[in-house]
Amino acid sequence: MTVNQPNNTMKLIAKSSAFAPATVANLGCGFDVLGLAVHTPGDVVEATLYDEIGPVTITDVTGDGGVLPREAHLNTASVAVMALCKSVDFRQAISLVIYKQMPLGSGMGSSAASAVAAIAAVNALLPVPLPKESLVTFVMEAEQIACGAAHADNVAPSLLGGIVLIRSYHPLDFIKLPVPADLAVCIVHPALEVRTETSRAILRKQIALGVAIEQWGNLAGFVSGLYTNDYDLLRRSLVDVVAEPVRSPLIPNFTGIKQSAMDAGALGCSISGSGPAVFAITKGLEYAHKAAAAMIQAFADINVVAQSFVGLVNNEGARVLKIERF
Ligand code: HSE
Repeated sequence: MTVNQPNNTMKLIAKSSAFAPATVANLGCGFDVLGLAVHTPGDVVEATLYDEIGPVTITDVTGDGGVLPREAHLNTASVAVMALCKSVDFRQAISLVIYKQMPLGSGMGSSAASAVAAIAAVNALLPVPLPKESLVTFVMEAEQIACGAAHADNVAPSLLGGIVLIRSYHPLDFIKLPVPADLAVCIVHPALEVRTETSRAILRKQIALGVAIEQWGNLAGFVSGLYTNDYDLLRRSLVDVVAEPVRSPLIPNFTGIKQSAMDAGALGCSISGSGPAVFAITKGLEYAHKAAAAMIQAFADINVVAQSFVGLVNNEGARVLKIERF
């Protein structure tokens, strides 16, 4: 559906497209501060640059069932691009086509993936493209409109790849962490939708000191395990006592699903981002496939259809697919 055609007398001067991967935010112990990029799924955005001053528009969105906003100020892809263009005072008209290739409201960083793909595509067309690290802050503005919170734990890994720690939001400070070579991940997405806004609204605003101690001990343990390739430490540390206990009732039979992954050899299993997708990390791809199959079966046992994605960690993050200049 074409909803927002730029003025058709405008001459197009360049086109680009970019892919941005899905992400697993939180990784259990790191609510809002840890995230990991996967190879698939992800979104693709195509950007067209015109020879005149003009707005950022969305000309088409495919694969979203007509659900996503087409208005530039409401769509995460255009919001991120507008924030970038404003910051570098770039005023030429840009149109975007968004190819959604991942489920919405899944907990796999869908809104971030569109915004990251869009900003990566447009950045490649700028006279002087910014380094990827500088783009994180603009995509966070898009997350703010998507779910009311400018969290970076989907955005940063989708852009930069690998596993990213958000050490601080004010000021923004993030660190790309080392990833053990055999660390594999599976994501299982049940055919349910949970809005991030809803899943954030139910969280407790305050936590007890004892709970905080447990969580930051595990977070530090997890980060340490990444630096030392210590899979057993990763296993002991992937524990979430903050979000998982509150959010897991949104996922049918979460305890059974998680147990099935652990029985299949997973090092840890928790909710992917705000859910309802569930993820597990494993040592090696073979266990990731086994954990995925076990979770799919556990969902099937309660008549919930689910889809799985299995792979190693994507260390590259967003990538420009093509640039054409006319
Ligand atoms: N850290 C965010 C949350 C990620 O858990 O709400 C949302 O995908």
